Order: sequence, then structure tokens, then C-alpha cells
Amino acid sequence: TAGGTREAIDPVRFLSNHSSGKMGYAIAEAARDRGASVFLVSTANLPDPVGVDILRVSSTAEMQKVVVKQCETADVLLMAAAVSDWRPADVAEQKMKKKSGEDKWNLSLVRNSDIVGSIEGKKLIKVGFAAESQRLKQNARKKLKSKGLHLVVGNDITAEDSGFGSDNNRVVLIGIDGRAEDLGLLTKYQTAYRILDKVVSLLG
Ligand code: CTP
Repeated sequence: TAGGTREAIDPVRFLSNHSSGKMGYAIAEAARDRGASVFLVSTANLPDPVGVDILRVSSTAEMQKVVVKQCETADVLLMAAAVSDWRPADVAEQKMKKKSGEDKWNLSLVRNSDIVGSIEGKKLIKVGFAAESQRLKQNARKKLKSKGLHLVVGNDITAEDSGFGSDNNRVVLIGIDGRAEDLGLLTKYQTAYRILDKVVSLLG
């Protein structure tokens, strides 16, 4: 998966995040180059990678539906998408108008389900990402456990030379044994390649 999910507020507004989708696309391209059959579920407006099946979605619920279906036959799920944890409790059918004198607006949100955390597949290898602004390794390890991942890719979103929108990334890989491997500054494609090295070893 790639990109940030979008949760509609009304016909013109949505809640989302800064994910560009580049990391997810780099994984799709690197996996393709290594001979995998790739299905990319994307919210991003990037050019379609050649030789990859792609389906564009918008909301978390839409993404979940496609991921669940694909995982019936997939060997590996790589969840690079930045999934919105919340969505507006109600989606207005018409554009919401401000009323005169109103200087505050409370938006009520409800929880989305955790796509990677709730998906089950006996042999499915699950790779998740942990985008953190503090305590990177600690938070990434927590996500590895709570979401039942085989591998977590942690990245520090405060780093200036990598992350959102950049062609580079600086990640740490943490496997089930808890050992952390810092990959240092790499292009997103190189990062993808290194993630896939781990996936290949997990596939046995
Ligand atoms: N993820 C998911 N479904 C969600 C939220 C996240 O599948 N509803 C996946 C992401 O694609 C990523 C991993 O879970 O692979 C971690 O996402 P992240 O946004 O870092 O963490 P959260 O679970 O949202 O936790 P928090 O916001 O509390 O840091």
C-alpha cells in the first residue's frame, strides 16, 4: 500500500496526512524488479509503475476492503501507507457552510480499523511501518508486537534529509528478535531493496 488515506468531511474537504506515497511505490518497483507479482493499493497521485497491478483508493475503509481481498492469495503484505486512524463520525452530503458569528467548529471523529493489525493469514508475511517523532525504536517495537508484524520499518519523521516527500529515507529495521538495524541515509528505492532482502529471508 502507498500514500495517505483520505477521510471525507463533506464533498470538498477531507482529513489526511503528508504521506507522498513514494516509499510504497519504491517498494512496488523494487519487488517487481526482483521478480515478484505486485499489487499496489494506492491513494497517491504518482505515475503508474510499469508491470505492477494498481488500484487507487481514497479512504481507509476502501483500502482495507482491497487489502483483505488481495491478502487471500498474497504471500507478503507491505503496509507503507499512512493510514488515517480516525474518520469524521458523519460525512455531510452538502458542502458545510459557516454560520455568521461562529468562531469554533468541533469535528467529531470515530476510530478506523487497523488494517495490518486485523488482517489474518496463516502464512502471510506482514511488514509494517512506524512513522515516529520520538522514541523511534521503542514505538516501532510496540507496533511490531501489537500488530503481529514480522518486520517493522521505523522512520523518524523529524529527520530533515529524509521522510515525507523526499526521494531519500533513513530507516531502522526491526524483526521479531527485536534487533534493530539502522540502514542510514539511502534512496527510497535502495531502502525498499533492503526491506525486501529481509522479506526474502522470511519467505525462507
Ligand atoms: N496501519 C494500518 N491501519 C491503521 C493505521 C495504521 O494498517 N488504521 C498500519 C500502517 O500502514 C503502518 C503501521 O500500521 O504500516 C503503523 O502505522 P502508524 O501510523 O505509524 O501507527 P498507528 O498504528 O496509527 O499508531 P499511532 O498513530 O498511535 O502512532
